[in-house]
Amino acid sequence: MPDPYYDKLLRCRDAVAQLSGGFEPRLALVLGSGLGSVAETMDVRARVPYSEVEGMPVSTVPGHAGQFLFGYIGGTPVVCMQGRLHYYEGYDVHDVVLPTRIMGLLGAKTLFLTNAAGGLDPAMETPSLMVISDHILLHFPNPLVGPNLDELGPRFPDMSAVYDADIRALLKKRGLEMGLPMSEGVYVQLTGPSFETPTEVRLLGRMGGGAVGMSTACEAVAARHMGMRVCGISCITNKGAGISQHALTHEEVVEAGNLIGPRFSALVTSAIPEIDRL
Ligand code: HPA
Repeated sequence: MPDPYYDKLLRCRDAVAQLSGGFEPRLALVLGSGLGSVAETMDVRARVPYSEVEGMPVSTVPGHAGQFLFGYIGGTPVVCMQGRLHYYEGYDVHDVVLPTRIMGLLGAKTLFLTNAAGGLDPAMETPSLMVISDHILLHFPNPLVGPNLDELGPRFPDMSAVYDADIRALLKKRGLEMGLPMSEGVYVQLTGPSFETPTEVRLLGRMGGGAVGMSTACEAVAARHMGMRVCGISCITNKGAGISQHALTHEEVVEAGNLIGPRFSALVTSAIPEIDRL
């Protein structure tokens, strides 16, 4: 019997392919907070709002519907997610990773993830960028729970090298050349939407985490399951609760993201053709 989720995935993939005019991306990019200007430098050939794809989860947040952008960044054919789905919005985790899987099935070989995150190391500058070396997904549902989609990948996929080492080295080198405040570390995904308590921040730091946020790791797991190459950068918009001397707000996150956003976008834009050649 066909799996209803896999069936939906294929139908969404077909609809997106048709609406994009058959565009074949080699790289998939997920735009987190502050990365809006990537879309401005992209040679956009097609826009596919999620709302036009039958079966796609519809955003619960008014004005944050989201869309796929298809086009070229420095000659590389790219699909961008402008607006991602978050578990805290109430989606099932399988729906959260549906767009990632669609982009993989459309042909993207590499997934480039970006996000805004809180810094767990008191020495971290804000805003700054952290190349993701690994992740912790222990306090969040694994997106591979449920019947395995054998068509995509194995039941028990290896996660010993989720974030590609060559791409990480390239991103760090390129960021430092551009004079950006760069670090490398482990990203911890929690469900949100509340920010962490100071005790949680201390715990996550002692566990080996470098940054904490509410996205990304589950998308990375779904992408590795289907054999995609994965890389990611966190924009450290604030110090974690308790390290920060004041209460955290979403506005602070957005402001810090906007502050470093254009330089973050420049790094991502210039790195993509090089990643594509690796
Ligand atoms: N915690 C969780 N998610 C976040 C944070 C944070 O401090 N900053 C930006 N996204």
